[in-house]
Amino acid sequence: MTAQTLALAPVSSSTRVIACATDEIGEVAADLVASLAPDGVLGVATGSSPLALYAALIRRRAEGLATEGLRLFALDEYVGLSGDDPRSYAAYVRSVIAEPLGIPASRVRVPSGSTAADAETYERAIAAAGGVDLQIVGIGRNGHIGFNEPGSDAETRTRVVELDESTRRANAEHFGGDLSLVPTHAMTQGVATILSARRIVLVASGAAKARALRAALTGPVTAANPASFLQRHPDVTVVADSDALTEDR
Ligand code: GLP
Repeated sequence: MTAQTLALAPVSSSTRVIACATDEIGEVAADLVASLAPDGVLGVATGSSPLALYAALIRRRAEGLATEGLRLFALDEYVGLSGDDPRSYAAYVRSVIAEPLGIPASRVRVPSGSTAADAETYERAIAAAGGVDLQIVGIGRNGHIGFNEPGSDAETRTRVVELDESTRRANAEHFGGDLSLVPTHAMTQGVATILSARRIVLVASGAAKARALRAALTGPVTAANPASFLQRHPDVTVVADSDALTEDR
């Protein structure tokens, strides 16, 4: 394993950056998740970035890692897609994470609905579980975490948001490339909800993330780049490849 702690100097001393080859991201991130207690609360991101991590956890389960007792909370969900829709994040969490890791549906929560009461229910469920022990996050090209688009401030909690056009375009590939099929709204954990997790692991790969990632780690803390609020968290580990950590200027 050639993972190394990179020279890219995050502003926050509580942020650690592990640079590794693209094909090592999954195993490096899995090392961190594997340190959870067998009945720990794992916050899961959907999207492409953490796929290798989930694959690594599934391999480790086959080698004896106990994952069945974990509890899962997802970051976000599209408004208007039912949990049976294969494009929903509920379907992703079920088929890519929970079922292969042997975690029963009763221990898996994904935001659902579209009302303030639905959002409050989700916040209460996280609190009732004792909070999230380790939250996995990706980063959007515009700096979003979960679906907290630019403009989301540090106090935000789970709520319905309108998706940026750029985010809908980036995610259109999951809807057959048809932008008109991408939902316009989502329910997402807020920035404050995410920052309530005891540990945060951000995974990122590819040059498309470089600008947002550098700004998040080394720029001002600002709602213009919601990932920058991670600088305020006491325990963040970034696992990223060199493309994501190198911004062409
Ligand atoms: C998506 C999701 C996020 C995800 C991010 C990056 O829109 N809402 O939870 O982390 O954008 O996605 P990807 O890893 O596919 O680039």
